Amino acid sequence: MKSVLEFKARKGKAPISISTAYTHWEARFLADSLVDCVLVGDSVATVVDGEATTFAATPELMARHTAAVARGLGGAKFLIADFPFLAARKGIVPAVECAALLLRAGAHAVKIEGVDGHEDVIRHLVQSGVPVIGHLGLTPQSMQALGGYKVQGRGEAAAADLLRQAKALEAAGVSGLVIECVPSALGKAVTAAVPVPVIGIGAGPHTDGQVLVFHDMLGLNPGFNAKFVRQFADGNKTVANGLEAYARAVSEGTFPNSKESY
Ligand code: KIV
Repeated sequence: MKSVLEFKARKGKAPISISTAYTHWEARFLADSLVDCVLVGDSVATVVDGEATTFAATPELMARHTAAVARGLGGAKFLIADFPFLAARKGIVPAVECAALLLRAGAHAVKIEGVDGHEDVIRHLVQSGVPVIGHLGLTPQSMQALGGYKVQGRGEAAAADLLRQAKALEAAGVSGLVIECVPSALGKAVTAAVPVPVIGIGAGPHTDGQVLVFHDMLGLNPGFNAKFVRQFADGNKTVANGLEAYARAVSEGTFPNSKESY
């Protein structure tokens, strides 16, 4: 899948798979994979830089990682980049500048958390030709207000409010939605309520697709095992074994051998 048009056309057809990528290295694996789309998530701040939250991500940081990922993908996949912390909350001009940075870096669409209070920004970007993907439910940029990383949309009132926000995003013109950490029934209801693809992360099996963090799904994030993550590979073990073998070979004097020497 290479464009927002192909992305939108998949609603109700085949499920969409999305992986994060932050570097040229991950992007090269993804370019040759069956994964449909790539997200340069602001989770780069936590996964790569070891920050406790995503607050440290800035438009410049996101643009730098987006450019690296775009080079690695070489146009092979639809590429979404995250609007970082508060970038949609400073008004239309800073938001346009952030979108310009991300699209010039190679993104095909931007993802923006939340909707209340910045519908005008989202509408303006969409009308300016910038495809926008919404992000509702557990929105990590609001983790202070949410009281931590918790399941959202539990109970009738919270579920109704989340459905209202999804419809508001659709009315503002988004091309799709990410919905994070909500009960499966709510994931299903949101998916049925809007005509654009709804991509879940911890939102159950009924959405139009799934997104996972590259490092989480490949077992490359030591100590992180949220309920909604399935580890499709044991990257931690592979890397640890490789490092051990290297260190042993050096200490035992078996690396480098004659074939590895000039
Ligand atoms: O930043 C991120 O990685 C994300 C996804 C996990 C949805 O927003």
